[in-house]
Amino acid sequence: MEIVIQPTEKIEGQARPPGDKSISHRALIFSSLAKSTVEIEGLLKSDDILSTLRCLQGLGVTVEGEGELLKVRGKGLDGLDEPDNILNTGNSGTTARLLAGLLSGQQFHTVLTGDNSLRKRPMGRIIEPLRKMGALIDGRQNGSLLPLAIRGSELLPLNYTLPVASAQVKSALLIAALFARGTTQIVDCYQTRDHTERALRHLGVDIKNYGKYTICLRNPAGLRGERWQIPGDISAAAFFMVAAAIAPQGELYLREVGINPTRTGIIDLLKEMGAHISIHNVKGYNGEPIADLLIKGGRALRGIHINKETIPRIVDEVPILAVAGLFARGETVIRGAGELRLKESDRLKSITLELKKMGAKIAEFPDGLIIQGGAKLSGASLLSHGDHRIAMSLAIAALFAQNESVIKGAETVRISFPGFFNLLGKLTGQSSLS
Ligand code: S3P
Repeated sequence: MEIVIQPTEKIEGQARPPGDKSISHRALIFSSLAKSTVEIEGLLKSDDILSTLRCLQGLGVTVEGEGELLKVRGKGLDGLDEPDNILNTGNSGTTARLLAGLLSGQQFHTVLTGDNSLRKRPMGRIIEPLRKMGALIDGRQNGSLLPLAIRGSELLPLNYTLPVASAQVKSALLIAALFARGTTQIVDCYQTRDHTERALRHLGVDIKNYGKYTICLRNPAGLRGERWQIPGDISAAAFFMVAAAIAPQGELYLREVGINPTRTGIIDLLKEMGAHISIHNVKGYNGEPIADLLIKGGRALRGIHINKETIPRIVDEVPILAVAGLFARGETVIRGAGELRLKESDRLKSITLELKKMGAKIAEFPDGLIIQGGAKLSGASLLSHGDHRIAMSLAIAALFAQNESVIKGAETVRISFPGFFNLLGKLTGQSSLS
């Protein structure tokens, strides 16, 4: 699908971003493991979440309902069924990794696969510690690539320091730990998103943090069937936050956005760049803080330096922060972001390649980007690289170019934000998009 984006001067209006992707995956998985029927309100309806839903259905979980409210008939920790076919996790790394943790502790056999992009992404990072727990997993290149064959087994508790800053790895291990008798201790190298820990605590699991980096999960555990309300996704909101901050005019009000501190790097960094962002109506859903955000345009932004410790808090926002850097005075430097090369595309490469087509002054480091702000962008024919966050970042850059741009492969936004172009049309007054 090709989308044409016209230049704009202003982002104006209000919106509720779609449900948080990370929390939606966890809500479906943990509800399936509860002993009762669980209601989920505001689940993200996107291809990645559909991948998790279909895999859980393959494991015998029944999900009913439509619109905003879903009912998941939880089967308890030991109630899942052996699937009669391969489970396809599509484009979703979170689905593949979290389910690998879950399936390692089942008393049956499963095979997990994914799409062309996911079959190239590293799985060794979960397989190695899962094998230490006693998991029986095989796959291409000694289990470091999908498809993976998992023969469920009795798991042992684990004591493990994560070699990579990855919430997916941490979560896979915590989920596996639900099936291991005893205490599992995981030490994070940098603080990554903690939705799994918050959710498990909320559902009654004995899980504690010691200091900033150590997590202990004690078994036996059972998951309570608590109703879920999913916050708006700050990583989806980020595209519009940056657009509103860059825009010469306008005001954007985003409602019910998740502001878990492990995810709010985008707010802190945009403020450091000089953007006007204020936080209103703070409340909480299922142990997760949420708030409304007001972003005002017309401020001069300045370039910033972002280092390795900050990356986990903005791991999905690096491409859109690169776009923000293009409209800031001076240089923006992002380092310690080598993980971006292992996402749905090599995001350092794809964003550099495409923004350069618009005349941007941007270059890659092996682990980051350097962006020279202030260059005038011209419209261009751009490629999404099959990566939803690249497509959305390019669309925002295209709003502030001098003439129209075309984005090819724009349908990839379905992975995390199917209504993206519609909302973009509404907030910019471009009726051809909405
Ligand atoms: C996610 C964790 C992050 C993030 C991804 C979702 C999660 O990946 O990039 O979009 O839900 O746990 P890593 O933790 O592997 O970096």
